Amino acid sequence: MSMLFDDIVKKKYSCLSNSKIKNYQTFKDINLKEEILEIFNTLAEDSSWSFENLSRKETSYVSHGYHRYPAKFIPQLAKRCILSYSKENEIVCDPFMGCGTSLVEALVSERKAIGVDINPVAWLITMAKTTPIEPIRLKREVNSFLSDIYSYKSLKYNKTKPLIQIDIKPVTLENERIKYWFPQEDIRKDLGLILGRINKIEDENIKNFFLCAFSQILKNCSVWLMKSIKPTRDLKKKIVSPFQSFRKHINYMMKGNEELYRIMPKKVKENLKQFLIIEKGDARKLPIDSNTVSLIVTSPPYVTSYEYADLHQLTALWLQYTDDITDFREGFIGSIYKRDFLQDKIKSDIAEDIIIQLEKKSKRLSLAVNKYFLEMQQCFKEMFRVLKEGGKTCIVIGNTELKKVKILNAEVFVEIMLNLGYTVHKIIKRRIPSKILPSTRDSKTGRFTSNLKSDRVSYPYEYILVMEKP
Ligand SMILES: C[S@@+](CC[C@H](N)C(=O)[O-])C[C@H]1O[C@@H](n2cnc3c(N)ncnc32)[C@H](O)[C@@H]1O
Repeated sequence: MSMLFDDIVKKKYSCLSNSKIKNYQTFKDINLKEEILEIFNTLAEDSSWSFENLSRKETSYVSHGYHRYPAKFIPQLAKRCILSYSKENEIVCDPFMGCGTSLVEALVSERKAIGVDINPVAWLITMAKTTPIEPIRLKREVNSFLSDIYSYKSLKYNKTKPLIQIDIKPVTLENERIKYWFPQEDIRKDLGLILGRINKIEDENIKNFFLCAFSQILKNCSVWLMKSIKPTRDLKKKIVSPFQSFRKHINYMMKGNEELYRIMPKKVKENLKQFLIIEKGDARKLPIDSNTVSLIVTSPPYVTSYEYADLHQLTALWLQYTDDITDFREGFIGSIYKRDFLQDKIKSDIAEDIIIQLEKKSKRLSLAVNKYFLEMQQCFKEMFRVLKEGGKTCIVIGNTELKKVKILNAEVFVEIMLNLGYTVHKIIKRRIPSKILPSTRDSKTGRFTSNLKSDRVSYPYEYILVMEKP
């Protein structure tokens, strides 16, 4: 059964239930920390939010299967948040859009969508996923593309006479990191050829569609150890042919595009520019006017969990977003690689306790967690600025454990947000179905491991923090 945060606290005659109260700091007699901890301890699971029985096909419907992305949420969850807390034509924003799950769902539900992410690869994938292309046009482009590639290949590689002279400039990159991940020269050549042909496409939407497919096949075509969240080489891996995997994946994406084109409301499809803004940027400085957003649906990065910059380095290298992975990491929240440290104070006693406990185990981790909470605090301030009065957030977040210290992200976020002026509308506790549970990994290799052996533990629950700007 679903439990309203309000209902729990009302029983305890707490001021938290009063949505008119703006500044909880003035209520000195209330121990906010203890209240929040107890509320989370007694919160019941709402099974209707676990989406237990969805098949892979259902969670990757329309364009959702175009590209893998670490910790993406399921579209059905985003859709339910959008339908519950916003109306048609209102603005839905995701400041950590990742591969754009909530943006796609906002558009198909006839909402305006604004997405921001610091990762340029997220921008590329989201552009491709949110832009339906007329299927006949796309088919024509794909046919011409594949025919060019095969003609070129028979000319250059097999030295047989081609039917037509194809003018493609294959991309050749003299980057040591590319050689490291793609040690076979013929694989690098084939990828360079595909990319060279993509570069000839004039229509930006179609080009992004092809670039998204190119990005998706890179891991399979490299010696990257699959399913690892740490960049690790697997020199025994069977490398798949770039042409075969590209063709297969583009065919799969064409089916998704057809479905997207069919279900996207006409009004949105024909005026996409008025319905959609996607920016490469920082969630701490959103390119959005104050008091305009009705709903924020987002899942923030976790601390020291996924290094998004590292995980997307193959695309970043091929598409020349960077030559140097160290620079590419700049600005990512949750990264262990941090150079500067903020002086601000975290508006959460729960966070302070966690940092003190962690400091006894690892100075480096405690600094990273400290910085993470401070950066998230900046994001919550910024979200508050852009939200309209009465606007809501749906922040999807789970708790973790580092070196046996519980990192209570959800509790900390609620405490910070209350102290920034938000009120609680509802907290939903959902079970993460075991098939998509973020598995426990070995911190050195990134491989799957048991909870017992790991110094990082994930829990099978997460929370949706529905907070309101009063
Ligand atoms: C958990 S993922 C979001 C996944 C998304 N919900 C989806 O379905 O694909 C978190 C995202 O936060 C992004 N991120 C990290 N630091 C950021 C920052 N400073 N500003 C904006 N985005 C950031 C990462 O690049 C990553 O895409």
